[in-house]
Amino acid sequence: MTINKVIQETRDIKTFQLVFQDEAMREKFSFKAGQFAEYSAFGSGESTFCIASSPTRKDHIECCFRKVGKNTAGLFSLSEGDTMGFRGPYGNVFPLEKLKGKNLMFIGGGIALPPLRSLIWNVLDLRDQFGDVSIVYGARSVEDLVYKREIEDWESRSDVTLVKTVDPGGETPQWDGHVGFVPTVLEKEFAPRPDNTIAIVCGPPIMIKFTFEALDRLGFKPEQMITTLENRMKCGLGKCGRCNIGSTYVCLDGPVFWAKELAELPQEF
Ligand SMILES: Cc1cc2nc3c(=O)[nH]c(=O)nc-3n(C[C@H](O)[C@H](O)[C@H](O)COP(=O)(O)OP(=O)(O)OC[C@H]3O[C@@H](n4cnc5c(N)ncnc54)[C@H](O)[C@@H]3O)c2cc1C
Ligand code: FES
Repeated sequence: MTINKVIQETRDIKTFQLVFQDEAMREKFSFKAGQFAEYSAFGSGESTFCIASSPTRKDHIECCFRKVGKNTAGLFSLSEGDTMGFRGPYGNVFPLEKLKGKNLMFIGGGIALPPLRSLIWNVLDLRDQFGDVSIVYGARSVEDLVYKREIEDWESRSDVTLVKTVDPGGETPQWDGHVGFVPTVLEKEFAPRPDNTIAIVCGPPIMIKFTFEALDRLGFKPEQMITTLENRMKCGLGKCGRCNIGSTYVCLDGPVFWAKELAELPQEF
């Protein structure tokens, strides 16, 4: 794919807008919110990232990634106009049909906003098919928030409730959001009602754990909570055995899971 556009989100996070070089592939390619792909900088390896753009917007796809190791450093050094590798889409999807008519609450932490963003824009592009839409998003510091311009867009919309927070100590003098960890702000400050609502949670495992506990105390049932996991992956195809939890392959059976399904997995999660 050709890197059409690069957006520097934070000091170590970039968004790439990608376009297939093969015109037939560009026409044929389709995916659904929740799916992931393998992205490569030639000579560096491959990395799993979610597809962060909405399937309703077909002219390009986007990924958003943090530079943490060999391949992400290789990708980070690429520029607009460069070529990079892509294979996918893989994995299961958010159950869009089951979400129709429901109030949706998106809860994300740090770099985990990209998988939610695909679904958020998918829902906002079909806005009249869903109930209330709320987004609770937090990061370690103001600098670590991704998609800052879109957060402003969502905040200014009358059909979206946006709650933003940074961890204690991560605020700046100009910060106008909350200060506190995502699960705490969710429970104590926002305190959503569970009626006809589905919570879609994405973040590091510890954040998912505390957020599910907070939702439970707020009266949400396991069948009202969905998450997406980021277990280690290599092939994305159910072949290498890197991503499994017991007999469940996150690359094939996930990455999207209902809380009820997670509760049935071995406790290594
Ligand atoms: C389904 C799924 C979706 C993902 N979506 C995104 C995304 O949208 N954006 C993004 O930035 N990252 C995402 N990740 C994590 C991403 O795959 C890794 O950060 C990346 O592959 C690291 O590649 P590397 O070669 O640069 O790092 P390596 O050199 O392989 O490792 C560098 C460091 O990163 C750690 N690491 C490697 N893989 C993972 C992983 N899967 N989870 C956590 N830590 C890891 C290693 O332990 C090491 O500390 C996702 C992972 C999965 C499984
Ligand atoms: S990533 Fe290889 S089996 Fe899942």
